[in-house]
Amino acid sequence: MHLSIGILSSLLATTAVATSNSRFFKRQGYNSTDYVLKQGPLDTPWTEKVGTDPWPEYPRPQLARSEWKNLNGVWRYQNATGFSELNAPPFGKELELPVLVPFCLESALSGVMGNHTIYSWYRTTFDVPSSWTAGNRVLLNFGAVDWNATVFVNGHQVFNHVGGYFSFSVDVTDQLSTNGTNELYEILFVFDPTDMEGYNIPLGKQRLVPSHIFYTPCSGIWQTVWLESAPANHITQLDVSADMYGKVNVTVHGSGNTSSIVQVTIYEPHSTVAKVTAKGRANEPFIFDVDDFDLWSPDSPTLYNMTVKMDGDTVQSYTGFRTISSGEVDGVPRPLLNGDFVFMFGTLDQGYWPDGLHTPPSREAMVYDLEVLKSVGYNMLRKHIKIEPALFYQACDEMGIMLIQDMPALVDGYHIPGNVCHDTDDVKDEASQKEFERELALLIEQHRNYPSIVTWMIYNEGWGQERKKEYPEFRLTDMVKSLDPTRLVDSVSGWHDHGAGDFHDNHHYSSPQCGTPFYSTASTPYNPSQDRRIAIQGEFGGIGNNITEEHAWKVKASIDAVNGTYELDDTIEIWNYRAHHILKELEEQITLFACSGAVWTQTTDVEGEVNGMMTYDRRLIRMDKDQWKDDIQALYDAAEKRGNSTMRMMARGDDLDVL
Ligand SMILES: *[C@@H]1O[C@H](CO)[C@@H](O)[C@H](O)[C@H]1NC(C)=O
Ligand SMILES: *[C@@H]1O[C@H](CO)[C@@H](O)[C@H](O)[C@H]1NC(C)=O
Ligand SMILES: *[C@@H]1O[C@H](CO)[C@@H](O)[C@H](O)[C@H]1NC(C)=O
Ligand SMILES: *[C@@H]1O[C@H](CO)[C@@H](O)[C@H](O)[C@H]1NC(C)=O
Ligand SMILES: *[C@@H]1O[C@H](CO)[C@@H](O)[C@H](O)[C@H]1NC(C)=O
Ligand SMILES: *[C@@H]1O[C@H](CO)[C@@H](O)[C@H](O)[C@H]1NC(C)=O
Ligand SMILES: *[C@@H]1O[C@H](CO)[C@@H](O)[C@H](O)[C@H]1NC(C)=O
Ligand SMILES: *[C@@H]1O[C@H](CO)[C@@H](O)[C@H](O)[C@H]1NC(C)=O
Ligand SMILES: *[C@@H]1O[C@H](CO)[C@@H](O)[C@H](O)[C@H]1NC(C)=O
Ligand SMILES: *[C@@H]1O[C@H](CO)[C@@H](O)[C@H](O)[C@H]1NC(C)=O
Ligand SMILES: *[C@@H]1O[C@H](CO)[C@@H](O)[C@H](O)[C@H]1NC(C)=O
Repeated sequence: MHLSIGILSSLLATTAVATSNSRFFKRQGYNSTDYVLKQGPLDTPWTEKVGTDPWPEYPRPQLARSEWKNLNGVWRYQNATGFSELNAPPFGKELELPVLVPFCLESALSGVMGNHTIYSWYRTTFDVPSSWTAGNRVLLNFGAVDWNATVFVNGHQVFNHVGGYFSFSVDVTDQLSTNGTNELYEILFVFDPTDMEGYNIPLGKQRLVPSHIFYTPCSGIWQTVWLESAPANHITQLDVSADMYGKVNVTVHGSGNTSSIVQVTIYEPHSTVAKVTAKGRANEPFIFDVDDFDLWSPDSPTLYNMTVKMDGDTVQSYTGFRTISSGEVDGVPRPLLNGDFVFMFGTLDQGYWPDGLHTPPSREAMVYDLEVLKSVGYNMLRKHIKIEPALFYQACDEMGIMLIQDMPALVDGYHIPGNVCHDTDDVKDEASQKEFERELALLIEQHRNYPSIVTWMIYNEGWGQERKKEYPEFRLTDMVKSLDPTRLVDSVSGWHDHGAGDFHDNHHYSSPQCGTPFYSTASTPYNPSQDRRIAIQGEFGGIGNNITEEHAWKVKASIDAVNGTYELDDTIEIWNYRAHHILKELEEQITLFACSGAVWTQTTDVEGEVNGMMTYDRRLIRMDKDQWKDDIQALYDAAEKRGNSTMRMMARGDDLDVL
């Protein structure tokens, strides 16, 4: 864009929108007149409402600063040929196409709807609000970029980040001009080797050639990009846990590594009245007690706001008081929430959208899925081999939805087209294993503050799991437990179980085999006299019901794959009838055997899969809501009969008076 400074600054004029406690600077459109929403294979009721100012919410609710500027909106994009282009980045040049950030390049909402977008350039310009305090630092934040992002500001390479599901923050102050000219730009080079020869990266369900249970990939920026202002020694990370006894454990990480005094204030819910103020030192854990509080649970998801101060920096956060553990209730190993056995019933939740792929079209759309599930009584979701934006976890915290959070899988040797190696020792690539482990640690470090997450899941159905001794899940389970001793670990969900972790997790379609003495040959039997782990059904259900063209992902390969569904039911009535019987089977297994939780496949249809509670476009709810509500309540009732609050009293012991 060759514009004089005068035109540029009017294009980039900022408007401050005052809210109660934050100053949010709205970014004006950047050459957005040629952005056009693409017609994808299917849309949702929210697609048309996205406009060119998507995801305006502050994106990091557990470390929120008041002075910030959203950089979402129309940027420019250009396909690149390879790493060699890094030798001559297109500084000062306009890139070919408009792209709507934060929607990945393959999505209709991005306006690109690309394919094979392996190397990409992104460019935008921005200015820094003149009111931001001189002497403060300017931080450039990315919610997530899939997979390897190299960031340039004003012609300087400032950062390189690898990992498609994680946030990162770059201090760009030194790259900003100090001469009063606000012509700043940022260029991003992204490398996303989905299914590329020589690469096996954590990517979940993304495939270059989608096929039934594998879907369209998602490359590039797919979460909010924003700027914020912070003092030189600022808070970079908070580690917070709060348990059922009122013990709060906080580590405030500061950019300067100093042992500055930090102050944490916890407020009464929905109030500005301070409940507790505690002081400690930065960069080391400190622990304090809170009295007279309400526990967090799915039925009563009470949260407490907090303010954290360090030197001149102040951030907002929140926490919830709850304890996850395992224990025996009437002789059966159970997951315990606040000392009670709570039967966990959830859907397999993939988090895919026909218009935005990995990115929901809006927060409202994202919350709609959760509301539909909650309305029939689901109290849990298995967030399936994908990691969501922070606002998703905040919504689960607020709504009372427990989460089993999966690590995004590598590609399994078994599933690589043309690879006929079906049995053990599929995964020989040590570099991929190391990267999987590095990103697994990032998953825990970036998400362990959310009260809603109750369990980490490492390997799904053996994908990317080395199947020879020493089985990697033992080492990885130890790693996860050392990074986060406050949660349970589901080391392998389905197949190739060698006894690691807290769960015996079976997958079976369509009927469950949950903690039962009968099993299919792909799994292992659950024998409570030998296995003291908790038995759950990590996947079952999956019955399908084909859809009319208006709700279908209109891609021939996907429509052709519908016949790969485990079971197709002719009508929605028959689908509901079948679901009722499958849920009754699960209920019996709770009553008779050792079943402690289960995951129904799945929240919505996804591309060629037609087995959702809702269709992929969210326009049709398949569930007969009253029937599902009754059947789900019957599961909780059956579980309640097997174990009640006795455990809770025992677990609390001397602390009974706390509550
Ligand atoms: C936007 O950029 C494109 C590509 O450089 C250019 O063709 C177009 O005229 C620009 N539009 C505006 C409104 O500046
Ligand atoms: C991008 O460039 C690569 C390498 O030159 C090429 O293989 C690919 O087809 C291009 N993709 C698009 C969408 O133009
Ligand atoms: C990531 O990109 C950088 C370029 O900034 C490159 O040097 C590095 O090798 C890439 N790493 C991977 C694992 O692709
Ligand atoms: C101000 O600084 C920027 C980058 O640091 C530079 O490109 C620009 O030419 C400078 N402008 C003046 C008027 O010195
Ligand atoms: C992308 O290309 C692959 C072939 O490499 C093809 O199978 C797939 O259908 C294409 N996707 C789209 C959305 O065109
Ligand atoms: C407090 O949390 C840190 C991790 O942030 C952990 O290392 C430490 O053991 C915890 N302390 C207690 C008493 O739970
Ligand atoms: C702070 O400590 C970390 C880990 O020890 C180190 O990587 C980082 O460079 C240090 N930062 C500063 C500003 O000293
Ligand atoms: C936390 O603070 C936000 C912003 O002031 C407010 O909207 C929200 O209701 C508060 N939540 C709780 C649990 O106090
Ligand atoms: C599913 O429905 C589509 C129309 O939406 C149709 O083209 C396809 O043949 C059907 N597949 C099966 C297996 O019934
Ligand atoms: C589904 O149909 C496709 C062609 O429409 C065929 O190639 C494939 O074998 C069928 N699969 C099953 C499981 O019937
Ligand atoms: C709770 O469990 C205890 C011990 O198993 C049992 O005696 C009691 O009757 C149970 N209470 C209810 C309400 O089910």
